[in-house]
Amino acid sequence: ASRIRTHHLARFKAEGRKFAMLTAYDQYMAQIFDEAGIEVLLVGDSAANNVMGYETTLPITLDEMIVFAKSVTAGAKRPLVVVDLPFGSYEVSPAQAVESSVRLLKEAGVHAVKMEGGAHFAGHVRALVAAGIPVMAHIGFTPQSEHTLGGYRVQGRGEGAAALLADALALEEAGAFCVLMEMVPADVAADVERRLAVPTIGIGAGPATTGQVLVWQDMLGLRTGRIAKFVKQYADLRTVVSGAARAYHDDVAAGTFPAPEHGF
Ligand code: KIV
Ligand code: NA
Repeated sequence: ASRIRTHHLARFKAEGRKFAMLTAYDQYMAQIFDEAGIEVLLVGDSAANNVMGYETTLPITLDEMIVFAKSVTAGAKRPLVVVDLPFGSYEVSPAQAVESSVRLLKEAGVHAVKMEGGAHFAGHVRALVAAGIPVMAHIGFTPQSEHTLGGYRVQGRGEGAAALLADALALEEAGAFCVLMEMVPADVAADVERRLAVPTIGIGAGPATTGQVLVWQDMLGLRTGRIAKFVKQYADLRTVVSGAARAYHDDVAAGTFPAPEHGF
């Protein structure tokens, strides 16, 4: 199957079809999701939480994102691979955003970048698009701004809806090929999807967006503790992996592994 490109995602919207995006941070998950038909893989800065064990997404660096992104592009043949610009790698100026993104495309082989932020970052989007780099915008709840937003909170409620739509329109006008909305009321997200020509993607944004995205450790039940309301858990990998590790441990302790057939 040939590579999914940004114009294919536009066609999904034009034809009223939906596409699925999952995060990926390594080659095997990228391969599995590719083979399962997932159209877009996101090398999310959520690797900071889900791989590196940080409390927030803020500490992960551009160099670290490049390592994860390289693994994903090594495993993904068909999906469009999008990578997050991590906190501190783009905010200063459009030039900083271009320099960081050039590294991600050149060193990791990704196809597009995702950048958090609203209309204030339209100039960044314009500069990236001019440099030949497709941009997915990310609005609504933007985890890199959690200290400003006051924690994980739904965005775009009440009077915030008009500002959210204005952000989406400004980012589209600047050239974003897609707008992702996180934790936005379903009716507000539906309105943005309707008002934009480009496709939108939702996480905690209801069913109207052209695309949906989930973090794989949430979706496959690897993560412990509180699960966000917008997550649907499709598997319980933690139990599967834990059971296998216990069985291995017990075999080793009992001397039943390795068996004769495992030896030379
Ligand atoms: O980093 C990430 O996983 C994301 C998604 C939740 C959209 O940005
Ligand atoms: Na992210």
